Amino acid sequence: MTGAPWSSGVGRRPDGAVAVAGVDVRDLAAEHGTPAYVLDEADFRTRARAYRTAFEAAFGAVGTGVDVYYAGKALLTVAVARWAREEGLRVDTASGGELAVALRAEVPGAEIGLHGNNKSDAEILRALDAGVGRIIVDSLVEIERVARLAAERGVVAPVMVRVTTGVHAGGHEYIATAHEDQKFGLSVNPASGGESPAMTALLQVLKHPELRLLGIHSHIGSQILDPDGFEAAARVVLRLRADLAERSGVLVDEVDLGGGYGIAYLPGDVALDPERVAKDIAQSVAGVCQDLGTSLPRFSIEPGRAIVGPAGLTLYTVGTVKPVTVSADDGTDFTRTYVSVDGGMSDNIRPALYGAAYHAEVVGRSSAAETVLARVVGKHCESGDIVVHEVQLPADVREGDLLAVAATGAYGRSMASNYNMLPRPPVVAVADGASRVLVRRETEDDLLGLDQG
Ligand SMILES: Cc1ncc(COP(=O)(O)O)c(C=O)c1O
Repeated sequence: MTGAPWSSGVGRRPDGAVAVAGVDVRDLAAEHGTPAYVLDEADFRTRARAYRTAFEAAFGAVGTGVDVYYAGKALLTVAVARWAREEGLRVDTASGGELAVALRAEVPGAEIGLHGNNKSDAEILRALDAGVGRIIVDSLVEIERVARLAAERGVVAPVMVRVTTGVHAGGHEYIATAHEDQKFGLSVNPASGGESPAMTALLQVLKHPELRLLGIHSHIGSQILDPDGFEAAARVVLRLRADLAERSGVLVDEVDLGGGYGIAYLPGDVALDPERVAKDIAQSVAGVCQDLGTSLPRFSIEPGRAIVGPAGLTLYTVGTVKPVTVSADDGTDFTRTYVSVDGGMSDNIRPALYGAAYHAEVVGRSSAAETVLARVVGKHCESGDIVVHEVQLPADVREGDLLAVAATGAYGRSMASNYNMLPRPPVVAVADGASRVLVRRETEDDLLGLDQG
């Protein structure tokens, strides 16, 4: 079971059980319980380094620099923020809570970005007090809000303007649409022949002495497997930058191309290769700037899933196993084996939310049994509580088996809930044959502690 979609530290022992970075999953289950999020630290670090070095090399080769921000929304704990920083990444946050984690990890304010389409005054003030390197503003109202709060504090706020380019990506293709119907950013397309909301926002920032315009930000989607979308969006942003220079005389120094780099979730999936995509984007933006007659800005990117997704797996214990007879469209019957585990949509909402596909294996032992068509389901009161829609599992899968779901490092714990009053599982890091708890398992006392009776 080595290779995608598992982290690099995952492999089977001679006795058939699986180990992660040298730690037997049976020991992980015995020590930390299940369900548990297991994070392969070396794998996280390797991916973080791979993204940084690939982008630094590619953008250096065309004569500019790049900063890689780890998108904390994918998974942020104090240790994870430290790992990112130790590997030379900065940290992108999307709320006051994420900002608090980054600060607790002692990430310097200057290396933190704050996102959000509806930041509160308290979140903006906290960011200003921490001296964050950039606040990414998302609306005209927010520009005024940040300016007012910066004036209140007597500081100059460094801001980027988030724009929507009309390019949307995710999956294997990208689409470009003229007008946006979504809550993020400001459109580069004029509403009715006049100035675009993006241009209005950039000019509005320039008018404020309390604001320093760093540059333009664009994020086009998630789980992108074709780099063409990044290049198309970059072209639009660089053209806007040139137009702004023409209008105002200010050629902004920075452009952020957001996150969204795709990973392997299933055996056979091919992840986006950081070296390849970095080279493609760097060469493309260099060509665009040459055509526009502008110097290259400094770039930044914000990968989240690509750094932490493959580094994580979720370890469950199998409970009820139930064969269910299903009628196919052609009228024939077939059997699907429903394998229930001790977690579900509360620890991974992505299958229910997006129909996301995952891969699972029995990991506490090997089996010589033939495989059967299985569906891994959780223990919640929802028929949509599906962990893995379709997977081949050994026919002898049974109660007490340990089962792992691959590539759950991103948007599992960070989107987890307490639905049905399930305590959220721990985040356990594994490295060099040892495990340690990064975030402990919630207890019934944690759940009841919030209830005022
Ligand atoms: C602005 C921004 N940056 C970065 C990311 C991270 O995306 P991913 O985890 O797909 O790389 C997101 C995800 O939604 C985002 O909205």
